[in-house]
Amino acid sequence: MHLFEFMDLKTTPVSLKRLLRESLEFVLDANKYYDFVCAEIENLHNQHHYNQIIELGAGQAPLSKRLSEKPWTSQLTLVPCDLYPIENHYKHLQTSYRNIKPILKPIDFSKPHDWPKNSLLVISASFHHIHPKYKEEIVTTILKNGDLVIAEPLRQNFLSYMISITNFFTILFFSLFNYQQGWLKRVFWCIPLPIAPLIFVWEGFVSALRQSYLKDWSNLEDSKTTYFFQFLFFKRSQSS
Ligand SMILES: C[S@@+](CC[C@H](N)C(=O)[O-])C[C@H]1O[C@@H](n2cnc3c(N)ncnc32)[C@H](O)[C@@H]1O
Repeated sequence: MHLFEFMDLKTTPVSLKRLLRESLEFVLDANKYYDFVCAEIENLHNQHHYNQIIELGAGQAPLSKRLSEKPWTSQLTLVPCDLYPIENHYKHLQTSYRNIKPILKPIDFSKPHDWPKNSLLVISASFHHIHPKYKEEIVTTILKNGDLVIAEPLRQNFLSYMISITNFFTILFFSLFNYQQGWLKRVFWCIPLPIAPLIFVWEGFVSALRQSYLKDWSNLEDSKTTYFFQFLFFKRSQSS
């Protein structure tokens, strides 16, 4: 059974999607997930010397932002893109970070795409959005153009489900006490009806449920897992 996520629905209002994305970045940052992924990407770069890191399904581009601040990425180009690119945000990143070059048109990572040579393609917290029956096919297609990392912040275990429940309160806290631009919209989605908190819990549950299909790969080169996080590395096909 492949349950839906609100983030994938075209009908989910933009301001609600934005709140969900911001809250996700807040939670994952607090859990040190992005630190974990950046450190593993640095290890890979030290071995394979990439020219660019493409962040697929980037959302708000949390990895590109964090990687850009690391001295070892100074000679690299960081390319965030998404099926639903956040145009204003990406334009802002382009002007604020010297080596971030976002793609403003929609990029679907399940479709073939010509990436520059020597690219590392990174799919963080997004691969579980595709249907499991296409997983091998999509990975094979991506590997024609570069090495691939799939990282996920949840696993299918008890603690991941517990964290998803506590996210109800995290998003409430994040919305009420984050007085930056858009405060009223954030509060609107949480009070008086806790629409965003309930959806955030749902998204966490569905994401954790979908992690089972990140097992059993025929072409996995390397992997690292912690109790919550997963980091899978696939090497580009030699024939291409
Ligand atoms: C849960 S967010 C993860 C955002 C970010 N990568 C992170 O680590 O916080 C999932 C993102 O994947 C994107 N997405 C889902 N399916 C996609 C596809 N087939 N191609 C490209 N992006 C996709 C969604 O638009 C959304 O921005």
